[in-house]
Amino acid sequence: WGKGDASTPIGDDDADAVSQNHGELKSSDTMYVPSNLSYWRDVRASFVIPKSEQAVDVNTLPQTSFDGPVHCLPRKWAHSISAPESGCVLVATEELDGNGTFERTVILLLKLGSRDAYDGPFGVILNRPLYTKMKHVNPSFRDQATPFGDCSLFFGGPVDMSIFLMRTNEGRPIKGFEEVAPGVCFGFRTDLQKVGHLMKNGALSPDDLKFYVGYSAWDHDQLLSEIDAGYWVVTSCSSGLITDALTTDPSCLWSEVLQLMGGQYAELSQKPKEDGA
Ligand SMILES: *[C@@H]1O[C@H](CO)[C@@H](O)[C@H](O)[C@H]1NC(C)=O
Ligand SMILES: *[C@@H]1O[C@H](CO)[C@@H](O)[C@H](O)[C@H]1NC(C)=O
Repeated sequence: WGKGDASTPIGDDDADAVSQNHGELKSSDTMYVPSNLSYWRDVRASFVIPKSEQAVDVNTLPQTSFDGPVHCLPRKWAHSISAPESGCVLVATEELDGNGTFERTVILLLKLGSRDAYDGPFGVILNRPLYTKMKHVNPSFRDQATPFGDCSLFFGGPVDMSIFLMRTNEGRPIKGFEEVAPGVCFGFRTDLQKVGHLMKNGALSPDDLKFYVGYSAWDHDQLLSEIDAGYWVVTSCSSGLITDALTTDPSCLWSEVLQLMGGQYAELSQKPKEDGA
């Protein structure tokens, strides 16, 4: 795969990914953090994002093993990558305009999985807040004994099963949960008891948990062909961008990610929505 045809709006080869990365930084995003070289996505981004958009971190100069100074990445960055991976983000292109479920969505791919049956890729839509809390949709959560009542609900996709995302302290994973990015774990209904204990201990607050009604899942080859057909831009995002999407209203996330990517992607973020063909 990977041979996008001529009509594919978004090229997906590596050279393209690198050359298209001229995200404009908004003032709120120009807070630089030292690239944490123990997180491999930051290392990759430090090679891809133009040095002019990175700040030199004088404090880390003596320790660097790279040639040249270590640069600091902005807290929020995004760049395209050539193939999907667990922890990447899928950004809907205009090809999905008119698709009631997926138009202008940003999906966090929790697992890429494999070609085996029941092990296909799945994730949750990050930018469909339902603006309601658990206690408003399920009376059993109103009861004080269940700690989940004040957690917010999102629409995660059309496949019927619930998933939650959990923000953890300072990038430390929580034992027994799978981490998808530093500081972000996910779990299923069967994990709720464990989470309930963590909340009662005070290790987690209702704001740290987001519940998704439904999720998005594909057959492995189906996802690759949708990417090939230009439905999705496969994107790597900073963990700051993902954690902010979990803590603030994510309804502008689609254009935010595209603008951070710059070039043709930034243009796509400005395009008026096409009517369903
Ligand atoms: C970098 O990440 C590692 C592992 O996620 C963490 O232990 C370390 O404290 C982080 N360093 C900084 C400077 O944030
Ligand atoms: C929306 O897009 C998804 C993914 O390509 C597809 O499976 C689905 O059939 C589409 N739905 C409509 C109503 O077009």
